[in-house]
Formats: sequence, structure tokens, C-alpha cells
Amino acid sequence: MMKIFLFLVSCILTGISSLTFDPALDEDWMKWKSLHGKQYGKNEENWRRITWKKNLNKIKQHNLEQSMGKHTFRMEMNHFGDMTNEEFNQQMNGFVQGKPESSTLYEPAPHEYDVLQAIDWRKYGFVTEVKNQGRCGSCWAFSATGSLEGQTFKKTRKLISLSEQNLIDCSRRHGNKGCCGGRVTAAFKYVEQNYGIDNENSYPYTGMDGWRCKYKRQYSAANCTGYERIKKGDERALATAVAQIGPISVSVDSTHFQFYCSGIYHNKSCSKTKLNHAVLVVGYGTNGKGKAAQNYWIIKNSWGKRWGNKGYMFLAKDMNNQCGIASNAVYPLV
Ligand SMILES: *[C@@H]1O[C@H](CO)[C@@H](O)[C@H](O)[C@H]1NC(C)=O
Ligand SMILES: *[C@@H]1O[C@H](CO)[C@@H](O)[C@H](O)[C@H]1NC(C)=O
Repeated sequence: MMKIFLFLVSCILTGISSLTFDPALDEDWMKWKSLHGKQYGKNEENWRRITWKKNLNKIKQHNLEQSMGKHTFRMEMNHFGDMTNEEFNQQMNGFVQGKPESSTLYEPAPHEYDVLQAIDWRKYGFVTEVKNQGRCGSCWAFSATGSLEGQTFKKTRKLISLSEQNLIDCSRRHGNKGCCGGRVTAAFKYVEQNYGIDNENSYPYTGMDGWRCKYKRQYSAANCTGYERIKKGDERALATAVAQIGPISVSVDSTHFQFYCSGIYHNKSCSKTKLNHAVLVVGYGTNGKGKAAQNYWIIKNSWGKRWGNKGYMFLAKDMNNQCGIASNAVYPLV
């Protein structure tokens, strides 16, 4: 009797769990998996699909609210669709906050402020292609190469893609922890003391911790002689630095950037102090006119071209240091 009862219960439960999958979404799930090259074990597939469905609902709800004027940006399903927000933050955000170090402060002269209304360094050859850090907390390395690439171009007029893997494998002595996170300033220190950083082709990205440093002096593609900080929290100073100097390395709270797709990102709950992700500011500008005008920063991310606006994001500017954009801004001297 008991056995029959248990048998019935288990049949009912199996029925319920298969019912949680909307068969109308079978094809979308298959297409999404094949588009992003996802393969799962048998047990994993079920909960990945549940997570994906939850994310899909969240994105739909957000975009509906956006169409009614509640948000300034849209979301889109992407390759992070099978990750919970916790998992996403654990894997993708590798900026480690450290004690403030002594470094020179960038100080523009008063007449240098607000000279340019808008600038986009991508148009002037300062910026390499959007890269993809993969499932490795190496954002700090991508942010560092981004500003080094820009300053090297400014000096030599040659745009050379620099090696993040070189930084991941070789800057542990400077306090970085490879795929488990690091700091942009420690990466600059490494390049300075190493008298060079390799280029992307001769030291390619693996997205994994390499325990042996394979730097070769003959491939030195850029140097660094130090770095300067932008006054903490000062968006006007940051804009002046972007206009005068070029792309600048910054850190942000990117906890809810997972499905950003277009528009100007703004979230009043975004933190100014809990920074977890390093990116690159490559410019700024204004959208709309008069009262409706909204200033934005142009952010280069390292989550591939399928994230955001071909890999880029527009982040609200002059909105009280949104997501901490000006809380930790630095650039290398080359
Ligand atoms: C960087 O500096 C080192 C040491 O001075 C030099 O050997 C190397 O060629 C430099 N690299 C570049 C790209 O200028
Ligand atoms: C804004 O941030 C809050 C708290 O960090 C979060 O719960 C919420 O989902 C975010 N909203 C959007 C639209 O990203």
C-alpha cells in the first residue's frame, strides 16, 4: 500500500516538474543554446533552463516597464542568460578594492575644464576591438590594457592590442590574483617594473590562470612609467581627463549590468562605493536637447560583442557619480 502511494506521489511530482517547462519555449531554448554554444550535463540542463526562463521573464518585465517610461535603458537576453545574478557577479566581476595608494593626482588648469562637449576616442583610432574575458575575473587586466593601448597609440600612432594573459600570469607578485581578481594600478606597476608588456598575438588570451609567466622581452609592445589618479568622485575632472588624455580606466558597481542592451544605464540603487568591475571610459556625450538632454559616458566593457551595444554601454553622466564611475579613475603614463 505504502509503495503504491509513493509510486503515485513520484509520478505526480515528475509530472509537475516537466510541466514547469513551457513546451512553447522548447525551440527558443534550443536556439539560444546553439547560438551561444552551450552544452550541459543531464542534471544541469534542467536548472539552467529554469534560470534562463526566470531571466527571460525579468527581461520582458523590464522592457515593458521601460516602454512605459520607468527605465532609461533596455535589456536583452544574451550569453549570460543561464546564470543567476549571484553566479554572474561571482564569475564576471574581478575588481578588487584596495587601500588607496599614494599616486600623483591629475589636476587640470581651471581653463581646461569643460572644453569639449563630446568626445569619442573610437573615432580617432585609440581603441582596439571589444574583447571577451570569458569566465574569468580578469576585468582589471582588460581595463589596464585598454588605457595602455590608448596612451601608446597617442605616443606612437600605432594601435597595438596588448596581452591581458601576460598580466594574469605575471603580476601575482604585485598583488593580482589572475582570474580571481586584481587591480588596474597593480597591472601598471607590473608593466613599469617589467619594462614592458607583450602584445595580444604573441601572448594570447586563454581565460585561465597560468602559473608560469611566459613574458619574452623581445616582444615588448608597450611600456609604462607610472600612473595618475583622477580626483575621487569628480565627474568634471574625469570628463576633462578623458578629453585631454584619452581613454581612462575606471571601476564601477556592475551588479545589475547582466542584460543591459541599449539606452543610457541608470539605477538609483547602484553603489558609488562598492566597486566590483573595472572597465574603460572611451568618451562621453549628450543625448536629446534642452530639458530632456541626458549626458552619458561611453564605456568599453570586456564581456564580448554580444553584450550591450556591440560590447559598449552608455552610462548616465553627471548623475551623482552613477555606479561609482568617478570613484576610482586612473590612467598610465607612457
Ligand atoms: C620598453 O622599455 C624597455 C627598457 O627600456 C625597452 O627595452 C623596450 O624596447 C621598451 N618597449 C617599447 C615598446 O618601447
Ligand atoms: C537596480 O538595483 C537594485 C539594487 O541593487 C536591483 O534590485 C534592481 O534590480 C536594479 N534594477 C534594474 C532595472 O537593473
